[in-house]
Amino acid sequence: MFRHTRRMGLRSHGGKARFLTGLSLVLSFVFFLLLLDILVVSNVSQAAGPAGGREREFTITARQFAYSPPRIRVRLGDRVTLRVTSEDVVHGLYIDGYGINAKVYPGQETVVSFVANRPGKIRYRCSVICGNLHPFMIGEVVVGPNYTLWGALALTVLAAGGTVLMLWRRGEEIRDRSEEATDGTA
Ligand code: CUA
Repeated sequence: MFRHTRRMGLRSHGGKARFLTGLSLVLSFVFFLLLLDILVVSNVSQAAGPAGGREREFTITARQFAYSPPRIRVRLGDRVTLRVTSEDVVHGLYIDGYGINAKVYPGQETVVSFVANRPGKIRYRCSVICGNLHPFMIGEVVVGPNYTLWGALALTVLAAGGTVLMLWRRGEEIRDRSEEATDGTA
């Protein structure tokens, strides 16, 4: 009779371990959904505006047949403003894939602005025939990853993994303890 009641108690301990394992699975699923949510929201905000990014401003000079500096670096999601002035003749500024085409006059600042919403290189080129080598007058904006965003994502994954591991080990402990108790009574 006594042994019977102990067994009943032990069975409920095993149930607790199973419950904790189940809970850890549910929690990891919730974390996974959270992660997806963060990814989707951050993508939307990057497309809509500089929510995740910074305001970056660059002064660029145009002359036959190059832009100076020829290459600038920004992060994904940054709002990029280019202030361009010509040092000789009239040049142009056409930005691939952003529908921007402006003229750059000598001694006069032309300001264009866009959100760097795709990684890689954004090329811009001269769009006013300014001499022999006009077709080679090209500049580029290098769009690097947004480390703040990826850092936050990595932390979320670590936290989720840690929680699952902790719950798993606690479940194992309870299972071990109930097995020890079984040995004691047998
Ligand atoms: Cu500068 Cu064409």
